[in-house]
Amino acid sequence: MFLITPIANTLQDVAVFSWDLGLTVANLVTPSRKVGHVTPAGEPGAGGKWPEYIAPGEGDSRCSCPALNALANHGILPRDGKNIKFNEFGSKIRSTYNFAASFCFFVPNFAANMLKRDYKKDSFDLADLDLHNGIEHDASLTREDSALVPNQGKVHVPFVKELLALASGKDKDGNVLLTQKDLSEYSAKRRVDARANNPNFTLSTFHKVFGSSNSSTLLTIFGGRVDDLESILIDERLPDGWESRIRKQLGLTIGSFNSTVLKVEFGINENKYKEQLAKQAAETPAESSS
Ligand code: HEM
Repeated sequence: MFLITPIANTLQDVAVFSWDLGLTVANLVTPSRKVGHVTPAGEPGAGGKWPEYIAPGEGDSRCSCPALNALANHGILPRDGKNIKFNEFGSKIRSTYNFAASFCFFVPNFAANMLKRDYKKDSFDLADLDLHNGIEHDASLTREDSALVPNQGKVHVPFVKELLALASGKDKDGNVLLTQKDLSEYSAKRRVDARANNPNFTLSTFHKVFGSSNSSTLLTIFGGRVDDLESILIDERLPDGWESRIRKQLGLTIGSFNSTVLKVEFGINENKYKEQLAKQAAETPAESSS
């Protein structure tokens, strides 16, 4: 009995990663979706028309994930953020964000296991996802650490503004873009600052990579577009006319996504940020005591 569950889980992971590889290869030989037609016809958001945005009210459940909160704010997930079936919300992520079906099974299934619930039968409220050091972790880019602000459903706007102010890229249409370098730089700052300010700070290697996975969606699904990210990260709202920047027919696979995640994670240099801090401190004249 003790062995059956880990063996079954390993076999399931092997099956999911093989499926994901198949989707990655199929994406190479299938034409991309046309601009303006990424969200499938008949799904919420098709043609850029998102269902009405209503900010959450008293008693509604929200979590540390801006993308899932946005689905609830538009009524694509239940507006109160409650009683969401694990095996039903992957299809909403698939149609809204164009993540591949493999990712849309893998992450909700991971969340069900994390909460010790049954993927096939059980449900969750968005706030349940904030289990500390489950997927939620310290040094996030959009939330204060949970030891400092237990309600992880609320964005910390100054972090988002600082992050977006770093955006150093531009596309051919003149849109300002957040780049991998900007994201790595801000992640380094958050890790150093959070370690200094939160006496209960923890961040395992696993959670570092999880952090870079979450934030890499800003570059991939959202294409780094700062004008969109202001709405998505601050109001947790999908802009009118928005569609996923992933045009691959079968969506963003775990394999393709990981190439961005690893670049972001390996680009994080906490020592460089600490050296900048030390240099600034050395250049700032000491306050006179008189
Ligand atoms: C598939 C189910 C998903 C689950 C269970 C989930 C869960 C989470 C959780 C728990 C966090 C908080 C991590 C932290 O402490 O920083 C988070 C953050 C985040 N997630 Fe999700 N998420 C999911 C899907 C998505 C999708 C589809 C996107 C993008 C389209 C996305 C984008 C983000 C972003 C941008 C953050 C913020 C990262 C930060 O603050 O550093 N997530 N997610």
